[in-house]
Order: sequence, then structure tokens, then C-alpha cells
Amino acid sequence: MTLDEVRSKYLAFFAERGHIVIPSASLVPQNDPTTLFTGSGMQPLLPYLLGRDHPGGKRLVDSQKCFRSMDIEEVGDNRHTTFFEMLGNWSLGDYFKQEQLTYFFTFLTEEIQIPKERLWVTCFEGDETLHLPKDTESAEIWKKLGIPEHHIRFYGSKKNWWSRSGIPEAMPVGEPGGPDSEVFYDFGQELKLHESSEFKNEVCNPNCDCGRFLEIGNSVFMQYVKNPSTGSGRDSFSKLPRQNVDFGGGLERIAAVSENEPDIFKVAHTSIIEQLEKITGKTYAENIRTFRIIADHVKAAVFLVADGVKPSNTDQGYFVRRLLRRAVRYADKLGITQSGLATVVEATARMYVHSYPEVLAQAADIQKIILTEEAQFRKTLARGIKEFERFAGQGMLSAHDAFQLVTTYGFPLELILEEAGEKGIKQIDIEGFKELLKEHQQLSRAGSEQKFKGGLADTAEKTVRLHTAHHLLLKALQIVLGPDVKQRGSNITQERLRIDFSYGAKMTNGQISKVEKIVNEKIKEDIPVVRTEMSKDEAEKLGAEHEFGAKYPDRVSVYSVGPLPTGRQDSRPFSIEFCGGPHTGSTGELATGELKFKIKKEEAVAQGIRRIKAVLE
Ligand code: ALA
Repeated sequence: MTLDEVRSKYLAFFAERGHIVIPSASLVPQNDPTTLFTGSGMQPLLPYLLGRDHPGGKRLVDSQKCFRSMDIEEVGDNRHTTFFEMLGNWSLGDYFKQEQLTYFFTFLTEEIQIPKERLWVTCFEGDETLHLPKDTESAEIWKKLGIPEHHIRFYGSKKNWWSRSGIPEAMPVGEPGGPDSEVFYDFGQELKLHESSEFKNEVCNPNCDCGRFLEIGNSVFMQYVKNPSTGSGRDSFSKLPRQNVDFGGGLERIAAVSENEPDIFKVAHTSIIEQLEKITGKTYAENIRTFRIIADHVKAAVFLVADGVKPSNTDQGYFVRRLLRRAVRYADKLGITQSGLATVVEATARMYVHSYPEVLAQAADIQKIILTEEAQFRKTLARGIKEFERFAGQGMLSAHDAFQLVTTYGFPLELILEEAGEKGIKQIDIEGFKELLKEHQQLSRAGSEQKFKGGLADTAEKTVRLHTAHHLLLKALQIVLGPDVKQRGSNITQERLRIDFSYGAKMTNGQISKVEKIVNEKIKEDIPVVRTEMSKDEAEKLGAEHEFGAKYPDRVSVYSVGPLPTGRQDSRPFSIEFCGGPHTGSTGELATGELKFKIKKEEAVAQGIRRIKAVLE
């Protein structure tokens, strides 16, 4: 089955069972302070898993675009990709284990027609010290569904417990999590990689990564929340008020197993591979790794650019740059000349014309961005090649030189190693290089954790007040600078708010004071802040502000400063935005004590994008 077939079957299957289909959120999370990219289906739904009511109800289904940057170096085998879609269905306090496992089993065996003998499952074995019981209930359900007993395995919390922070001990207080039950497809092949598996001394099992099994779906039973510490030093958990199901399934993997095909690239990258074969005259079969890397990287870059990310040296843009540079180097290996890669954009977009037509609609722009990036990189590369020649003259490559070639000139390490033979370099300090790279990664991770925080950092009172101030500010900017001002990013902590918005010039002092004055007036007027659920069309008709790059489901939550117009009177609220909250009850709450809204900084962050930092003090 193709990706389109599996995706539509899945959405239809759950829609028939009372689920509302919600669109994929952007690859760039707008209101999640913890990550740079959307890396799992539950991420955009976190507020609802934590207890907020979703406008779509208690049963939701979707296929969420995901990007996992940590997998870049792993690309090249038959199953890892940086971009993928996660099929998701959610019960927000509705059905639980019995229905969930039955649904997924029925979907796999009846809709995808996977023979049940191919399926293996894993369940949580429990943790006595933490008083978390063994999940025998799931195992019983699987058995009744027809999974033979020796295909049902129990594992501890490292494998069968899911929370955003991993194992129960690592969860912060207030974090939700629970046991999960994973489903694996058995290719029945020889155990190729068994010797390098952490389970090499055991009989082959679903978790051993030997290549025989492929995980295709994970049902998380999100039913616990971490308790505050009691001083005993032992972690404890309470039951959440609502028991949720958070299911994630790999679209590409399910499509691959529907064909009994261990190589997911043959199912998920077909048009891209055909295009590469066409422009190079070479075959996938003879250049498997190189083709896979190019296909993965170009596809991911296309989707990221379509979601508004441009190649750059910082933030999400850095990853697009890295993907494209790696793709160019591997394309060189195949003899693809300048601009060849850009021809893969359309092949990629066409594969997704039914599910993500906006990608094809932007194909020409994406091509241009990729061409410009490639041309710029080739200039850097030409300088890098000269450096490389110089090192070759010395007969050795120090850790620092190798690091320089990788980070400044964009040479992938494995290509350096290949070429170093050819260039007569006899000695390379790989260990030293790896040390340097590790330090660099730790530094950039620490930096990015701080820097990439977008949306609300927490839901403390001060943060919530600044969130409401943020809505007032956006509207005030539109009043003073013009209606074309649009929000392009936001970050709110207890100390200050930050807004990025589209505007072409530096604001004058007069404009800044006018904006401050409007916001402070609205605070003084103590206007109610109202949350309303309505259809997306209605919200659009009301002119509610969108988040850049976000797609919205049919029913949405909007926050307005001032009541919405009723049939009898047509006054408009001061501000209205698509927003999940939280907010203060009225603008007057922003003035607690002598607090006043103040803009602290106004600066450029990119071409046509300004940034304001503001406080209530
Ligand atoms: N949230 C679960 C995962 O990402 C389904 O694996």
C-alpha cells in the first residue's frame, strides 16, 4: 500500500469510530517551550492530554508531520528517516485499553491485511519499588485478540513506559505518563545485527534491534502523574483525573510492512528515488546508502521550508542548512551537478499532492531557496577543498582540522575519511575529533534549550499575565504600524514577553510610546478576556489572528479581548486570536499593584522581521 492509502484508511477507520480528524500541526511548534521541532504526534496535543477540553471532543485522529534532528547521522539504514508522519489517535478520558488495542489490531489485520502471525507485542512488566503494577490487562487483551502467548513480551520502564521525559524516575513533578504497549512486525529474517544488539545473549526478541522486528505502533496509556516529593526520597505517582490514550504509529513503516518490505525507502521515497535514477543514470540498488541519505534529506528540507523555515546558521534554519549541505555532498558522489537536487523538490511535492497540496503549491519557491543555498555552499566548499588539499600536503589531519572541515565547510566526516585515502592523508585524529564534536553538540544543545524556547515557558500567574499583554500588544502594533503586521514568533516567560512580527523598518520612539499607551489604556479599561469555541470558518470570518504556519482543525478555540459580537450588536472586540490559552479573566488583572506595560527593546531579527521585548513592571 502507498502512504496515501494507509493514511486515508487509518483516518477513515477512526472517523467511523467517532473520532474527529484534525489536521497536522506545523513542523515548527508554536506554543511548546521545550523543543525546536514537532517530533511526535502528541506534542501539539499536550495541553489536552494534561486535562484541557479539546474543541474537537474526546476522540481525535490525525497524521502528524514529524522531524527528528537527532536521527540525521543515523540515516542510511533501511528504517531511520529524519522526516516521517506519525499516525495518532487519542482518547481524552474516553475509551481505554480494551478498545484501543482492539482498534489497532483490527486496523492492522483487517484494513492493512497483516497476518496476525507476523505481530509481536510488548507490555509493561511493572515496577515494585515505584508501586507501578504489571500491565497484565493489556497482555490478556492481546491474547484474546489472537496474539500467541510467546509473541507477548514484558519489559521494564526503559522500554514500556512513556512520558516526555522517559522513565518514571526522570519525570518532573506534575508530568503525565504511563505504561505502553508496542506492536512489532516480524520479517522472519536472519538475525543480521544480533551480535551488536544489547540483547545478544538472549533469544531474539522484539526489542533487540537485529533487523528482524520493526516497531510499527505504540499505545500509551497515559494514566499517571508524578507526585511532589514526600521527603522519603522515593518517587510516587497518582492516577490522573482522566485516563488518556496516546497512540503513535509510523505511517511509512506500516506502509512498508503492508508490502512485507523491510526497506521503507522503497515505499516512502519512490518518486524521489526514480528522479535520482533519472538524473544520474545510476541505480538505487548499487548506491543504496547515498540514495537514501539524499532522498531523506531533501524530503525533510522540502517540508521544513514549506513550513516557513529558511536555511540559516541558527534555530531551525541551521538544520535545513545541514540537511542540504549533506545532500549536496552526497549528490556530488553520484555526479549530480549544480541545480540537480532542486529537480527532486517537485518529485517530493508530487508524492504528497493529496495530503499536503500546499507543498506543491510552494514548489517553485522551495526550489529557489534550495538553489540559492546550494550555490552559496559550493563557494564555501571550494574554499574547504583548498584547506583539505593543504592538510593533505601535511600527510595528517588533526582533530581540530577535521572539526573545521565538518563544521565550517560542511564536509560529512565519512566523506572526509573516504577522500583522505585518495589524498594521501595517512593519519587522522578521529577520537580527538569526536571529543570536539561532542563538546560542540553539548554547547549548542545547552544554548538551544534556552534560545529556542517559543510560546509560554510555563503557566505561572506572571507568565499568563504577559500572555494576555502579548495579545494586546499585537493589536496595538497593528493599530500603530498598519494591519499588515503579523506575528512570526513568540516566547513568554515570567519575566518578559517577546514577540517577533513582520514589519520592514525600525520603530520610532513616537510609535513605541503610542503602542505602550494603547496597551496601558486597555489594561485600565479592565476588559473581559473571553474564550470561545467555534468553527474555523466562523473564526476566520471574525478576522481572528492566525499563528504563522499553523493549520487549524474544524473546531477551534479563540480568545477575544472584549466579548464577541452578538446578532443584535456588531461592535468588535479589541483583539481576537486563534489561541489555546491560558489567559487572565480580564485585562485589569495585568495591573496588579502599580504594574505598567513597558517596551524594553525593539530590534531586527531577520529581513523584514522585528522583535520586541516587553515587561509589566
Ligand atoms: N507518544 C508516543 C510516541 O511518541 C505515542 O511514541
